[in-house]
Amino acid sequence: MHHFTYHRGELYCEEVPIKKIVQEVGTPVYIYSSATIKRHFKVFDESFKDIPHLVCYSVKANSNLGVLALLRSLGAGADIVSAGELKRALKAGIDPKKIVFSGVGKTPEEIKLALEAGILMFNVESLAELDTLSQIASSMGKKAPFALRVNPNVDPMTHPYISTGLKQNKFGIPEEFVIPAYKKAAENPHLEPVGLDAHIGSQITSVTPFKDALKRLKVIWNELKSLGISLKYLDIGGGLGIIYENESPPMPEEYASAIIEEAKELEATLILEPGRVIVGNAGILVTKVLYLKENLDKKFVIVDAGMNDLIRPAFYQAYHKIVPVEENFEREEVVDVVGPICESGDFLAKQRPLPKVKQGDLLAVMSAGAYGFVMSSNYNSRPRPPEVLVDGDQFYIVRKRETIEDLYRLEEIPEKFK
Ligand code: LLP
Repeated sequence: MHHFTYHRGELYCEEVPIKKIVQEVGTPVYIYSSATIKRHFKVFDESFKDIPHLVCYSVKANSNLGVLALLRSLGAGADIVSAGELKRALKAGIDPKKIVFSGVGKTPEEIKLALEAGILMFNVESLAELDTLSQIASSMGKKAPFALRVNPNVDPMTHPYISTGLKQNKFGIPEEFVIPAYKKAAENPHLEPVGLDAHIGSQITSVTPFKDALKRLKVIWNELKSLGISLKYLDIGGGLGIIYENESPPMPEEYASAIIEEAKELEATLILEPGRVIVGNAGILVTKVLYLKENLDKKFVIVDAGMNDLIRPAFYQAYHKIVPVEENFEREEVVDVVGPICESGDFLAKQRPLPKVKQGDLLAVMSAGAYGFVMSSNYNSRPRPPEVLVDGDQFYIVRKRETIEDLYRLEEIPEKFK
């Protein structure tokens, strides 16, 4: 579901023609629909209404302050993985008591900042991290609320780069170590066990892996209870998949009822960390056709957005639908849509049937709202594109286009080489 539709042959985001935005800010540009974000958040949140819960939006999926502030206005908390994400969440006005901090490599400085902010809990990913958390809390005269992230060793059946709950992955703590760690922590005056956590991967298109992980968590939860360690928060991470091409992921209601079914007897407050399902289909990347090129047996559409702007096709061979901004009923041709970067991996689509386009046409790369701009880079010294948030018939530039000067603003030529 999204709000990018054609009216009289022209692609709109809500009530704003894409062409109007392009006239003002140029290409490439990321465009997000606030109506889509709102709808996705509400549907997701309401699916869990029968159980105490908190939706901590996973900031890494799209961390633009405008997007975060919109989600905060809907009641979202945040799942963060760095001091940068912490500051963004706080700047967007997200209540620290709705923030959970995940990630395998939290630095002591980051832990300190989060303790100072008074976040809800740390999702701890190793026993060494738990020691560090305890030491820092102790030095600050605080008690750190934490959950251990369990590695439940279930296969989320997704791309290997985004599987996180298999025992060979770097994430979480093996089940065997979890109970002793809680026992030890329960006696530590600077640690407060408040939750249990797992996140098994991303773009998951079946409920089975979630249920399997939850079954493992339930065993641990109950065992801890029998040891007198009663937890409050059961965090089952994010990971619900979306439709990019022809996937059929469970709808949020189906996902929620499978989880509620498993979790309700625990009397826990559920924490959910959705990212992609909230923002993925709420964003597009608009790019312009620079050149058409025909080599011996291949046709290339060369556009002004590259792998530095959207790395998902190059990195995961991910499929993103591409449509013309002006509806086009020309005969389809099979083309590679490629960017200007000097790498053969720089493509947005390969062997893709596309209605014949011409120089100057605008194309919309769909489903680019999650892991799009946030994974962009300046490779080939390309300024990153602007981000625009549409709301009804209005649009807001929520991040300006970088300038060439921005690229070397932090650099300096040593005196002797001048
Ligand atoms: N919680 C934790 C601890 C995570 O590591 C992630 C994502 C999420 C929640 C949110 O997962 P989601 O609901 O968005 O699936 N760059 C990749 C995706 C990486 C996901 C990393 N972790 C991509 O473009 O597909």
